[in-house]
Amino acid sequence: MIFFPDDFLWGAACASYQCEGVWNEDGKGPNIWDDFCHEYKGHRIRHDETGDMACDFYHRYREDIALMKAHGIQAFRFSISWARIYPDASGRVNGAGVQFYQDVCDELLHSGIEPMVTLYHWDLPSWIQERGGWQNRQIVEWFGVYARTMAEALKGRVRKYMTVNEPMCIANNGHGIGVFAPGYKLDVEKLVRIFHYVALCHSEAQRQIKAVDPSAQVGLACNGRMLYPEKDTPENREAVYRRTFDLHENWTEGYNTVPDSLIFRRWDPSIPEGVRRFADTIPSSDWEAMEKPDFLGVNLYGGGMVDEAGNDIPFPTGGPRTANRWPITPEIMHYGIAAIYRRYGLPIYITENGISCNDRVFLDGKVHDPERIDFLHRYLTELYKAIQEGVPVKGYLQWSIMDNFEWASGYEERFGLVYIDYQTLERIPKDSFAWYKQVIKSNGTSLNEIP
Ligand code: BGC
Repeated sequence: MIFFPDDFLWGAACASYQCEGVWNEDGKGPNIWDDFCHEYKGHRIRHDETGDMACDFYHRYREDIALMKAHGIQAFRFSISWARIYPDASGRVNGAGVQFYQDVCDELLHSGIEPMVTLYHWDLPSWIQERGGWQNRQIVEWFGVYARTMAEALKGRVRKYMTVNEPMCIANNGHGIGVFAPGYKLDVEKLVRIFHYVALCHSEAQRQIKAVDPSAQVGLACNGRMLYPEKDTPENREAVYRRTFDLHENWTEGYNTVPDSLIFRRWDPSIPEGVRRFADTIPSSDWEAMEKPDFLGVNLYGGGMVDEAGNDIPFPTGGPRTANRWPITPEIMHYGIAAIYRRYGLPIYITENGISCNDRVFLDGKVHDPERIDFLHRYLTELYKAIQEGVPVKGYLQWSIMDNFEWASGYEERFGLVYIDYQTLERIPKDSFAWYKQVIKSNGTSLNEIP
């Protein structure tokens, strides 16, 4: 019988560049995603799309929050556009930007919804990029100043912060394989340094937030390789654990790159030689500066199966996949999450989980998305198994509250609970949102019934 803990927090998430629009008004400065989309027309973003308008959340947030309230959403995770706050290198704070996020928080709070703030979801101000971006260690200081400004502005409104979203994508996707802004392909030494700066940024931001508001809870949202066992035996679970955090192969893809630095103050011994060369030069003062987060956010979508020896078992031919061809593997919600808790022993929030579907408006004017309902049902059922085993999962933030700009895939991938008509910006709640409302209302007991 599925029944989630009484204080479990049910919510949904989105990020500034993906939904806000209004890229060059109200004092906002440009950021690397504005530049990336504008500069690389023709080959970087599907259909040359940009986040210039996105969902126009900047103007329509009241309507969006009203929909959240009507569907019983308890927490909304959103990110702040750094370049709306610090538009240029002068150090001047853009009051309109601060006001916007205060207004969003107030609207949420009046609607009985807890704001959960991510400080950095990939939209680095262009003035920082011009000074080397993530390759310039001064980013730690700049990020600390920004974190303090936001903590002061949002004190009394926000209790949970995530400093950064997905170190793996910041470093690897943006600077390793170059599919995300700023689109670089750097060597290992430069990449590993970026991971280190991300860990230092988290730590500095955590200190600054706590200095302003000691009661604030500070974490970060990470992703990485997620695995599940072929058979539920102790040996096979051990293999899952070992392989999940083994950085020997594909070291940038481990969930543990940054959390290990923050919590254990070291890189995992399995790192390849090139990474070790840098790791060995990290001064002890850097390790001492690492701050252990209050909670860990986990973003998870699809994963892989391993056998008892830790070998990958290939995904079955014709197996279930999402519209963007990611494998559907609900078991990672159970075993992947259990492995993360075993390693770090910290409370966990599922900060992202969801599915891209080929959603469209049907003849009856509604958006029917049974695939999303089935996906969420399966993943939440597995999440409950982790909770039953004693993993302190505190909340679940579905990705995403609305369809939005899916980075290099533009608007073609739809992850939302709310459908966006990008021609009119009309919002249409999908069937899955009504379904999720029941899950929230029943605190998960509705998951006991299979439709
Ligand atoms: C990111 C989101 C993104 C989602 C789906 C996560 O990696 O944090 O911004 O939209 O996955 O791709």
